[in-house]
Amino acid sequence: MEVKTSLLDNMIGVGDMVLLEPLSEESFIENLRNRFDHNEIYTYIGSVVISMNPYRSLPIFTPEKVEEYRNRNFYELSPHIYALADEAYRSLRDQDKDQCILITGESGAGKTEASKLVMSYVAAVCGKGQEVNKVKEQLLQSNPVLEAFGNAKTVRNDNSSRFGKYMDIEFDFKGDPLGGVISNYLLEKSRVVKQPRGERNFHIFYQLLSGASDDTLKKLKLDRDFSKYNYLSLDSASVTGLDDAACFRTVRNAMQIVGFMEDEVQSVLELVAAVLKLGNIEFKPESRVNGFDESRVKDKNDLKEMCELLGIEQSVLERAFSYRTVEAKMEKVSTTLNVSQAYYARDALAKNLYSRLFSWLVTRINESIKAQAKTRHKVMGVLDIYGFEIFEENSFEQFIINYCNEKLQQIFIELTLREEQEEYIREDIEWTNIEYFNNAVICDLIENNQNGILAMLDEECLRPGTVTDDTFLDKLNTICAEHQHFESRLSKNSKFLTDHSLPHSCFRIQHYAGKVLYRVEGFVDKNNDLLYRDLSQAMYKANHSLMKQIFPEGNPAKVNLKRPPTAGFQFKASVGTLMRNLLTKNPNYIRCIKPNDKKAAHIFTDTLVCHQVRYLGLMENVRVRRAGYAFRQMYEPCLERYKMLCKQTWPHWRGPTREGVEVLMTDLQISTEEFAYGRSKIFIRNPRTLFFLEEKRRGCLENLAALIQKIYRGWKCRKHFLLLKKSQVVVAAWYRRYAQQKKYQKIKSSTIVMQSFIRGWKARKILRELKYQKRCKEAVTTIAAYWHGTQARMELRRLKQEARNKHAVSVIWAFWQGTKVRREYRKFFRAHAGRKIYDFTIQRIMQKYFLNLKKTMPSMSPIDKKWPARPYQFMEGANTELRRIFYLWRCKKYRSQFTEDKKAVYEEKLEASEIFKDKKALYPSSVSQPFKGDYVEINKNPKYQKLNSAVEEKVLLADVVNKINRANGKGSSRIFLLTKNNFVLADQKTGQVKASVPLPDLTSVSVSTQNDGFFALKLKEGSASAAKGDFLLSSDHLIEIITKLHRAGTAMADREQININISDEFLVQFKQDKVCVKFVQGGPKNGNSAACKRKNNRLLEVSVPSP
Ligand SMILES: Nc1ncnc2c1ncn2[C@@H]1O[C@H](COP(=O)(O)OP(=O)(O)OP(=O)(O)O)[C@@H](O)[C@H]1O
Ligand SMILES: [Mg+2]
Repeated sequence: MEVKTSLLDNMIGVGDMVLLEPLSEESFIENLRNRFDHNEIYTYIGSVVISMNPYRSLPIFTPEKVEEYRNRNFYELSPHIYALADEAYRSLRDQDKDQCILITGESGAGKTEASKLVMSYVAAVCGKGQEVNKVKEQLLQSNPVLEAFGNAKTVRNDNSSRFGKYMDIEFDFKGDPLGGVISNYLLEKSRVVKQPRGERNFHIFYQLLSGASDDTLKKLKLDRDFSKYNYLSLDSASVTGLDDAACFRTVRNAMQIVGFMEDEVQSVLELVAAVLKLGNIEFKPESRVNGFDESRVKDKNDLKEMCELLGIEQSVLERAFSYRTVEAKMEKVSTTLNVSQAYYARDALAKNLYSRLFSWLVTRINESIKAQAKTRHKVMGVLDIYGFEIFEENSFEQFIINYCNEKLQQIFIELTLREEQEEYIREDIEWTNIEYFNNAVICDLIENNQNGILAMLDEECLRPGTVTDDTFLDKLNTICAEHQHFESRLSKNSKFLTDHSLPHSCFRIQHYAGKVLYRVEGFVDKNNDLLYRDLSQAMYKANHSLMKQIFPEGNPAKVNLKRPPTAGFQFKASVGTLMRNLLTKNPNYIRCIKPNDKKAAHIFTDTLVCHQVRYLGLMENVRVRRAGYAFRQMYEPCLERYKMLCKQTWPHWRGPTREGVEVLMTDLQISTEEFAYGRSKIFIRNPRTLFFLEEKRRGCLENLAALIQKIYRGWKCRKHFLLLKKSQVVVAAWYRRYAQQKKYQKIKSSTIVMQSFIRGWKARKILRELKYQKRCKEAVTTIAAYWHGTQARMELRRLKQEARNKHAVSVIWAFWQGTKVRREYRKFFRAHAGRKIYDFTIQRIMQKYFLNLKKTMPSMSPIDKKWPARPYQFMEGANTELRRIFYLWRCKKYRSQFTEDKKAVYEEKLEASEIFKDKKALYPSSVSQPFKGDYVEINKNPKYQKLNSAVEEKVLLADVVNKINRANGKGSSRIFLLTKNNFVLADQKTGQVKASVPLPDLTSVSVSTQNDGFFALKLKEGSASAAKGDFLLSSDHLIEIITKLHRAGTAMADREQININISDEFLVQFKQDKVCVKFVQGGPKNGNSAACKRKNNRLLEVSVPSP
């Protein structure tokens, strides 16, 4: 269950000043001090947050704190700036109400820090994502850039904002930031040229000189030494705890994140450097004939460098420092400037240059952070503007600043009271009128268009004639004399005539926050804010990317003779816009208070705080808040908090919460004047009542705590006892188990020992037995082996003896038989033995030879040349003869298998061999190719059906040949047909007969000795076929064609044989010419086949590829 807490828990003093009892200035300050001493720097007045500057870092701005305050009700936790930021953000996101956060307080009170805390809180709790994070980062990083250019060290604050800032952060419907718009108010530009004692110029000058690289400084023509620049005060050039060099790096990085281009950063730094250079320009007087002094630039080096930085022609600027041109109604009058006027012009230029650069920076940042989406945005405005200022010497700036604070107070009064009133109406509570001081009358004194101080100042500035600060004061004295908040020594209202605290050249205004004395000196000048036109025109002419933008009035094409609006007028207008803007939004206030003047932690100066409490109107704020009902709370948290005070509501109330609260209040017998029931809230009139409730609650809580403690202790003891009991059982069980285990282990091990002894004894007994049996067996075996051995040896000896005896008998028998035979045949043996042995031997050898021949007979192939070798020399003749017979027999056998067709083929092959063997190189490759005769399938191919029928006889050969054109030697394909009596050449594609030559007209055929397929068919001179001349053809089947031609010629009874002429050079008759066909070796370039080329009339050359 979520623990509901309240602001009222662990309160130090009171967290909300509305609850202060009794309410007095002393108790108010005492409460602030008490809380400040306990590091509680935030205190509420209703929904307003008072923030004390701790001047040290407290651990209350951590991410954990952000999480703690996230989505919690305002009064739920102890006062914190995060609670206000969360309330504003949630109201913006969930209720679609635009918000503004107004941060006020005097210089050094922590306004800027507070604004950053609010922004960082919102950044931490709003949506995430790449795009959103980029926007957040840009919004946050705009701060360091603006602080570097707009903040400076003052005696009150080391990082004092010298400009007012209002930033609108825009959100989409989900509450994700989309972008923002920054407005700046009145930069204190006089600081550029002069700083009060103990203060510095704007941070950027020191940061640039300390942090920029040597290279950058060289480019900007600057020196690192601060003392070289008149505009930089030296007595407090370095600030303790502030590292200017590191800050410079941070600023450059921030500029990059915000989206400044590198060249833009460079241009900005050039302008900053130019301001420094400008301060170093000095003037000297030069006497003129008319007796007046004219100013001249003393040392032109700084002027030259500044002109180089800004790209201005030196002479133009130099002239602008010496002369001033006044234009009036088409007339131009040029007057000289004396030295003091030149210094005035220089400083005016420096102030303008810097303040316009600052405004340009704000515009440029706005361009970067502008929301992209065009949809309606929800807006949260954060206003960090200078607080009320009362110095010893107050001038135009303080007047303007205090005017702004008067306006803010107006808004505060208007919105706070309106809010209060609206809440009462909303909650249906009777509204009682509240008395408060309305400062509208002071605002009117300053801003009234007819007789307001600003209007009169403007009137005075624009008036022709001599105008001084004193004439302005005179005017005030006449017009404002009667005003109850205006005081002046010389006013018509003589009551101040003797007031010595009011000097002559001053006027005093009773601001809502106190009386402030203003010295009129410089009012007119500062309000005019004049920059001589010659200077603005010189600046406009500069060849620098920013100058034309920041000095638009210098454009000669747009010379405007009207005076520019005065500073006061501009400020009034922008404050008016700001006020209108703020009035449309829901306000949230942070009132910053500075605890001491020493910028030190832990010091709380009562007088200083009291002064701030007064002029911030905080007491008034509390009174307004308490005028009706001091405290209000929603019914649900109220019931939740106090339900333990009544039996009916404790511990649970089942009905509606309002009824629950009513029951509670009735039960507590609180008087009915003390509270009122609103629609959603209960309103408690006096803090007393609330403290009574709190007191009762605390008492009740103590009782409840005691009860809870009692129950808890009882429960804890019982739990402990049960645990002990359970543990005891477990321990006992474990112990018993352990003891039994040990006993069992002991018995088990003794059993095992005994068992092993018995088993050993038994085993040994068996072993002995077995060993004895084994020995017996071995003895028996040995004895049996010996015995068998003896028996076997005896048998062996007997058998050996028997065999010897048998052999001896057969030997003796053989000897005896031999002797007997020899004795019987001795008489025949010598006469025929030799012849017989010889025949027998020869017979045996021949028998063996034939038997062997039978086994090693060669194969039946006629080309198998193998034959077994003869074993003896004397068999040579027989062997050769047998080989020849076998060869003939085998050939006969082979031939006898031939059919008639095959025979004819072999005859053709034989004839081809006779014609070509060893004569033409093409021949060997043709031997293995069978002669097919018909290569074009003339009978089957339908294309040649006509041709087939045109040839009446049987076709012996049909092939595609290449007919060589007689004129150019190029070939064209023809069908070559050979029949018994003719040869025909026909078109290959159409089958049309081109030439048909009877064989008797063919006298001879010529071919080369080489590897080509060319052949010439020579025709009988005078025959009809020979009209066009001989044919030169080539074919892949040359050997077959020539052989078949030869055979066909031979077969014809009435004709001589066709001559076959094999030579590498022969003559052919082409029409009338005799052409020599010559075969040369050497590969044609396009392949392996022979190519034919007509060289000239007499020569046709055939190139045959080398083999
Ligand atoms: N919440 C804080 N925690 C720690 N230090 C703080 C806090 N608020 C302010 N300070 C310290 O006080 C100094 C002055 O604060 P800050 O610059 O916000 O004042 P300011 O009200 O903006 O003054 P000015 O009107 O001169 O701009 C800071 O530089 C910082 O050192
Ligand atoms: Mg500030």
